[in-house]
Amino acid sequence: MSRAVFVTATGTDAGKTYVAALIIKKLRESRINAGYYKAVLSGAEYDADGRVTGSDAHYVCAVAGIDGAPEELVSYIYKTAVSPHLAARLENNPPKIEKIIGDFERARRLFDYVVVEGSGGIVCPVRRDKSVSSDTSYAPSKNSDGNIMLTDIIKAFGTDIIIVAPSGLGSINSTVLTVEYARQKGMTVKGVIMNNFDKNNPMHADNKEQTEALTGVRVIACLPNNCADFPLETKELIKIFGE
Ligand SMILES: Nc1ncnc2c1ncn2[C@@H]1O[C@H](COP(=O)(O)OP(=O)(O)OP(=O)(O)O)[C@@H](O)[C@H]1O
Ligand SMILES: [Mg+2]
Repeated sequence: MSRAVFVTATGTDAGKTYVAALIIKKLRESRINAGYYKAVLSGAEYDADGRVTGSDAHYVCAVAGIDGAPEELVSYIYKTAVSPHLAARLENNPPKIEKIIGDFERARRLFDYVVVEGSGGIVCPVRRDKSVSSDTSYAPSKNSDGNIMLTDIIKAFGTDIIIVAPSGLGSINSTVLTVEYARQKGMTVKGVIMNNFDKNNPMHADNKEQTEALTGVRVIACLPNNCADFPLETKELIKIFGE
């Protein structure tokens, strides 16, 4: 049975793709059959013939040396660079939870270790069929196709999560909120990865200390800017993956 981990973040652009690529690269360099999967991606680049030429999956496959068509590792790809639920609505292609689960299972058959990248942060609407104006209650989703949150997908996969967080000012707040929200949804947080970490910046070091103290979750790695090698030994790295 393959092993998987879900990479989420304190928000969009925190570095999920960057981190996923480095984790998979590190494992593959140790001859481990590691790969990637992402359920819903928005803001993809296309060529004139309508082929996807740029996406998170393309970046990860290039960096980590995964052969094959990157777009096959993503269930839903949208051109519009907005939240998945809005892109799905604008492009009239609503995600289906059955397809997402089936594609994840396919990724688990392809790879022994699967790094799943989330979309945005932990609170991410993937499909919202109700009209926004009449839906002000922010009701918890019922895991139905008409109303899918990212957390429904994580729960359906049964994976633990790791959180990519910034290292600078505001990091304590956004990381603690993300951990607490994930816990409230019944998830296990395996660790936090602090990105763009400057070991010479005392605030970054203190943010790490405070985040660990306030959440009880370990910061498993601190990635400097332009880091090319995931700073954790392979035998430690594989511990973030559940069964
Ligand atoms: N440690 C780093 N060093 C240099 N550049 C980085 C680092 N981490 C992230 N970046 C850059 O920051 C940008 C955002 O990172 P990334 O695409 O990984 O974020 P993301 O969380 O996957 O975003 P999205 O929510 O769109 O999927 C990218 O251009 C990426 O190359
Ligand atoms: Mg990404």
